[in-house]
Amino acid sequence: MFTPSENNALDAVTAVLWKQLLSDLQLIKQQHPDATFANSLAAEDMVLQHAIATHGLNISSFTLDTGRLHKETLALLDVINSHYGIQVTSLKPNQVKVDQHVAEHGAYAFYESLELRKACCGLRKVEPLRAYLQGKSAWITGQRREQSQTRSELQKNEFDSAFQLQKFNPLCDWTLEQVWTVIRTFAIPYNSLHDQNYPSIGCDPCTRAIRAGEDVRAGRWWWEQRDSIECGLHQSPTTATTENT
Ligand code: ADX
Ligand code: SF4
Repeated sequence: MFTPSENNALDAVTAVLWKQLLSDLQLIKQQHPDATFANSLAAEDMVLQHAIATHGLNISSFTLDTGRLHKETLALLDVINSHYGIQVTSLKPNQVKVDQHVAEHGAYAFYESLELRKACCGLRKVEPLRAYLQGKSAWITGQRREQSQTRSELQKNEFDSAFQLQKFNPLCDWTLEQVWTVIRTFAIPYNSLHDQNYPSIGCDPCTRAIRAGEDVRAGRWWWEQRDSIECGLHQSPTTATTENT
């Protein structure tokens, strides 16, 4: 799996992380042949996508195309296809329900209240995700502990009680710097918004660039209280299991 050229290209610490990532992904595929990778097209996920694609891991990838993503994010779908020959499955929300919601509350209702914001995330993200994960035994995410207080206890391997399947977070103990070391070393394609002070990227109207000194997730749902900034994809509590990765 881990090639000598990868070993030579990376510094010693990152090489250990990369090697571990490859073996974690291989084990996930062995234990859960139907495992699927949630690719938001942000930096962490491009590292995972690169590992999966360049090591023939044959793990499917999907993205939740909410209908409100930035054009820079959507452009990466074609880039992944041309660079790796991989088709990321786009999951779209139920358009009838979205149209109803917009007709009733407006196209920017998420700024009005937490309830309306969660309703929008529910329709555009959580419902399609729930339907897609139904019947599968595991999913893989690019979450890291460092990203927020609510992720500080994240495990590499958890049981996702919200969606009732195993959930793997193989980058959970990586730093942002390590993510970028790998991206730069392997010339992995990435979302150009990252070069414009968007360390964390969600939907266009709900993400802004951060200012110097701000937290990496400060640009997500920036008008809300900081304790509400999750969208329902990653619900607590998840309980750690003894499965071996
Ligand atoms: S969020 O809950 O605040 O939106 P975040 O953007 O930090 O999540 O991403 C964490 C992980 O959730 C990503 O690494 C990815 O695995 C998954 N994820 C988030 N948004 C999407 C999306 N639009 N499509 C697919 N996966 C996503
Ligand atoms: Fe709707 Fe914003 Fe949630 Fe995207 S992030 S689904 S636009 S509320």
